[in-house]
Amino acid sequence: MSESWGHVLRAAEGAARKVGERVREVLSGERICSVSMKGEQDPVTDIDLYSESIFLELITKSFPTHKLLSEEMAATVNPEQWNALLTKGTTWIVDPIDGTTNLSIQNPYCSVSIGILEDGVPSCGVIYDPSRDELFSAIRGEGAYLNGKRISPSTVSSIHNSVISLGLPHNFRENWADSERYIREFAQDCRGVRIFGSAALDIANTACGRLSGFFHRGLKPWDVAGGSLILQEAGGKSFNFLATPESRFSIDSPSHAFCAPGIYDEFQEKLRKLAEGSR
Ligand code: 2AM
Ligand code: CA
Repeated sequence: MSESWGHVLRAAEGAARKVGERVREVLSGERICSVSMKGEQDPVTDIDLYSESIFLELITKSFPTHKLLSEEMAATVNPEQWNALLTKGTTWIVDPIDGTTNLSIQNPYCSVSIGILEDGVPSCGVIYDPSRDELFSAIRGEGAYLNGKRISPSTVSSIHNSVISLGLPHNFRENWADSERYIREFAQDCRGVRIFGSAALDIANTACGRLSGFFHRGLKPWDVAGGSLILQEAGGKSFNFLATPESRFSIDSPSHAFCAPGIYDEFQEKLRKLAEGSR
């Protein structure tokens, strides 16, 4: 582990675990979380805001040259700042709680997600699942770990034998026929489809072989920044299926997919074909 990233990783892990304590209080019913709506289908709780404050405080105190881009503050970031955060310097991309809808109903499928970019390159990633006390982590070039043990994706070699998780875009009701095509295609073809509701955790679970693949249209950088590095370091594959096959994976894309290496070609072909039908 390179010395400087090891230090940053431990700090990120510590903050994620601190948030996790509070998440567990909500899940056990010891603490009521207050929920408000940012938009239709888009809840925010006091735990999301608490989590964001923990990361802001950590970065301000311990890493004053680093920047933070976090979901709950993103509305205040203008396009020029956004571009700078995603391409220059050291930026922590944080989803304070990924799976807020689940947490708001005491469903444990939620996580804290951190991806740290250096000049736009994902260099350090942490995803913490408080309910299972599972911490996924990676430093660029040093492999991916779950609670300190090396992880790798599923060895599956066909979509037919795969369990695939997906998420629906925010506005799925406005174009239900489109979402229906994606669900039908995979439901008919693979071993099973799932919709769990925390993109970061689905990517982490793809990295360690509990899922063979995951895709979602309409995600944001904080949903995928930590997971994309963890999956890559585990040996998995990621791509943007609305982009051309030659274009590189980017966390700032409207259509992310992640999978085990053995289904990469087939998964890409299927999703690109479905995306063609959406245009
Ligand atoms: P969230 O819980 O942080 O909002 C559910 O399908 C998954 O998609 C969750 O990871 C959820 O993250 C994410 N998601 C839902 N709506 C979103 C939006 N408008 N922007 C970004 N991510 C969203
Ligand atoms: Ca969130």
